[in-house]
Amino acid sequence: MSVYLNGQFLPLADAKISVLDRGFVFGDGVYELVPVYSKKPFRLEEHLRRLQGSLDGIRLANPHDMVGWRDLILKLIALQDFADQSLYIQVTRGVAPRDHAFPKGVPPTVFMFVQPLVTATPEQKAAGVCAVTATDNRWLRCNIKAISLLANILLRQQAVDAGCAETVMLRDGFLTEGAASNIFVVKDGVLRAPPPSNLMLTGITYDVVLELAAAHGIPHEVRAISEAEVRDADELWMTSSTKEVMAIVQLDGEPVGAGVPGPLAQRMEALYQTFKQQVMRA
Ligand code: PDD
Repeated sequence: MSVYLNGQFLPLADAKISVLDRGFVFGDGVYELVPVYSKKPFRLEEHLRRLQGSLDGIRLANPHDMVGWRDLILKLIALQDFADQSLYIQVTRGVAPRDHAFPKGVPPTVFMFVQPLVTATPEQKAAGVCAVTATDNRWLRCNIKAISLLANILLRQQAVDAGCAETVMLRDGFLTEGAASNIFVVKDGVLRAPPPSNLMLTGITYDVVLELAAAHGIPHEVRAISEAEVRDADELWMTSSTKEVMAIVQLDGEPVGAGVPGPLAQRMEALYQTFKQQVMRA
């Protein structure tokens, strides 16, 4: 498998960085995960714009412009011998003697690799998944897609330990997001999502879902969602680039709505798949 590291395309086994890289020592970096269907990156411009936002958030200069990134990304995609890919981009503050303060004149480390994209099967989508809730104890800059994911990892493990797929996070009595996904609530036919803020990462999938809701006349609201509304939902969904639209059918051991993927989840999943096909053919 070919990867990209600091200007070179090379086999994974030959990609080496210093142990003093600030990504390794401090988790001082940001990332993106771009789904690639049939060798075409999905919503690349949006992902690159979010990467710019994350870099701005940590005060790290973007090493490439849009055209530069696109060029490197398309080359990396072309080098793989599988068509559906999960393309990972990571930029760190580079290699320097350990000191919290930003190093001066140090180039960032840029790493990209690709894995086969594994999305849920129709059977898994039809079954839905279970989730648990937890207090969102992350920092207050969750809109930055930072590689320092320790809190997310610990939160997500709570779901895994319970045999579930995701942890739904609540902060001060309100829904924020999943440990690695955004969360939507459906009540009486209305789709609801928390508003983008520093308390959550605005998913590219989140945006697509809201665009599809608007385009297809699905009633929807973007507003703060209380814990009570989460627990009283008819439907609960998790969305992400790899999970796409996945129904949560059980929360903390209690059935969500009827305990099976609801009608709106099934409709949105179909709309999402159709949209994906359209975009990829265009
Ligand atoms: N995670 N919120 C968090 C905390 C996430 O980690 C993710 C995605 C999302 C959804 O974003 P998007 O729709 O752009 O994938 C929301 C990716 C998949 C990951 O870390 O692997």
